[in-house]
Amino acid sequence: MIIAIDGPAGAGKSTIARRVAELLDIQLVDTGALYRAVAHRAMHEDVEADEAESIADIAEELSFEFRRESSDGDIENILYCDGDRLGDEIRTQAISEMTSLISSYLEVREALLEAQRELGRARPSVLEGRDIGTVIFPNAEVKIFLTASAEERARRRYNELAERGEEVGYRDILEEIRERDERDRNREVAPLQRADDAVEVDSTDMNVRETVTAVLDVVYEQTGGEWM
Ligand code: DC
Repeated sequence: MIIAIDGPAGAGKSTIARRVAELLDIQLVDTGALYRAVAHRAMHEDVEADEAESIADIAEELSFEFRRESSDGDIENILYCDGDRLGDEIRTQAISEMTSLISSYLEVREALLEAQRELGRARPSVLEGRDIGTVIFPNAEVKIFLTASAEERARRRYNELAERGEEVGYRDILEEIRERDERDRNREVAPLQRADDAVEVDSTDMNVRETVTAVLDVVYEQTGGEWM
């Protein structure tokens, strides 16, 4: 049982995928974290971002496991890579930038393809990413393409940064999101696109609870309620 959730950055994929996995009590595979783990290891081994082959070798050799851990009453989905716990160190700006680059290398994507399939086959899972419904699990039982307008995604990002006390202008964030969308949709390797049979859920005018409900409705419709 695979639920594929794809979509652009900032549409709320991580939050929604986490809630859906918790509610259905199934595994959550955050595929972005795998790419981040590869970038993190490469950085620590002083491999330059443009050494695609060496980075693909790293991706090929790493082993991944997701574990659910509770902290302060919250449930977190933590990636263990070769047995090492990876927390906030894979969420820094430097890692985000390196990840964005290395995830565009075909060799790296191929090296992580089997790891993602193995994780998904092992247990009923929600997989969250960019190409789950198109490339990794084209036969997934449920495919969701989660979107939101660029303006709404910029607004969410702005609020998130403001909460952390970071002052960044809304216009600059919006501009950055538009540029990234353009890059993601038009890149040669694994461009972001909706699978023909994916159901689009637009979260622009919905809060988290409403979006989770909309996603669960799709799961119910596509699986006949077998998993709920
Ligand atoms: O979802 P995220 O921000 O953790 O993703 C990190 C980077 O990895 C981002 O640049 C998009 C890329 N990515 C990808 O190319 N394919 C995936 N399945 C998941 C993430």
